[in-house]
Amino acid sequence: MDMLIAKKRLPEIKSSEITPKCVYRNRREFIMGGAALALGLNMTSSWAALQSESPFPKPFADAPGSLYSSDEKLTDYESVTTYNNFYEFSTDKHRPAELAKNFMARPWTISVAGECNKPRQWDIDELISKFPSEERIYRHRCVEAWSMVVPWIGFELGKLIKASEPTANAKFIEFETLHDPQRMPGQKPGFLGGTLDWPYREGLRMDEAMHPLTILTVGLYGEYLPGQNGAPLRLTVPWKYGFKGIKSIVSIRFTEQQPQNTWNLQAPSEYGFYANVNPEVDHPRWSQAKERKIGELFKQPTLMFNGYGDHVADLYSGMDLSRHF
Ligand code: MTE
Repeated sequence: MDMLIAKKRLPEIKSSEITPKCVYRNRREFIMGGAALALGLNMTSSWAALQSESPFPKPFADAPGSLYSSDEKLTDYESVTTYNNFYEFSTDKHRPAELAKNFMARPWTISVAGECNKPRQWDIDELISKFPSEERIYRHRCVEAWSMVVPWIGFELGKLIKASEPTANAKFIEFETLHDPQRMPGQKPGFLGGTLDWPYREGLRMDEAMHPLTILTVGLYGEYLPGQNGAPLRLTVPWKYGFKGIKSIVSIRFTEQQPQNTWNLQAPSEYGFYANVNPEVDHPRWSQAKERKIGELFKQPTLMFNGYGDHVADLYSGMDLSRHF
């Protein structure tokens, strides 16, 4: 449980060293077997796991595993896909699953532009075949003090960055979500449309973007990303709060200046640019010292950098993280 990810630095992983892929069914059987012996408490989550076998095809069922994967118990599929933050559909966490169920994520193009020598438009399926995905089981920590463990499917953002040949001026990278109120009802003018300044935007410093833990995510639990989780392409940065994980990306730009990010624009005193998980820096309205893992009863301590400190703490050496939150 405490062993989140391999402790040593893992600069390059040879394919011969890739761990066998985690098989969710086996995990579930293990959980269920345990529950049969165990006390009533565990029964709920194992029953949920039993109920939650997805009916969808699993195009990434054979994606290789990764040494960066956590070995913690997975959050069940049902919770991962029905408890979502996706304001383009609803501010209610349970509604995106219903409202984004039929979201059309094809055809879909992603433009890569800005400070780079090879700008281009990528078709999503071209991107998926050019950069083979692996499974990354990551802790997923929301700024609202809940967390999950999700078997994402994705590839390193750094690979797309290298292929785009950023210029020396590229200091940051900026992402934008689709802006289409016809397909994303939460963007319609009026009460809901007024919730955020669309399109949803996010950004990373170049070294954060190039870090091997940072992935572009195209699936979860072996299948394509469901609409509510950000189909067809989202960002996943496991040492940061979940709001950095921008969904349904249509634009990626290399910039010289630090990009704006939606939640910082919305409430600058509450949400910064960096958004590194940090138990010592509270949100102005609540503590970040503990978190509740979805599906579990008791809170657990929040880990610095969400448990990925051995890999990423160096990126921030010398920075005052209470100021750069
Ligand atoms: N991306 C867009 N475009 N719109 C959003 O509302 N919510 C963010 C992030 N990405 C959001 C978004 C927040 S606050 C979180 S916690 C995660 O998505 C939630 O991801 P999940 O629903 O897959 O758990």
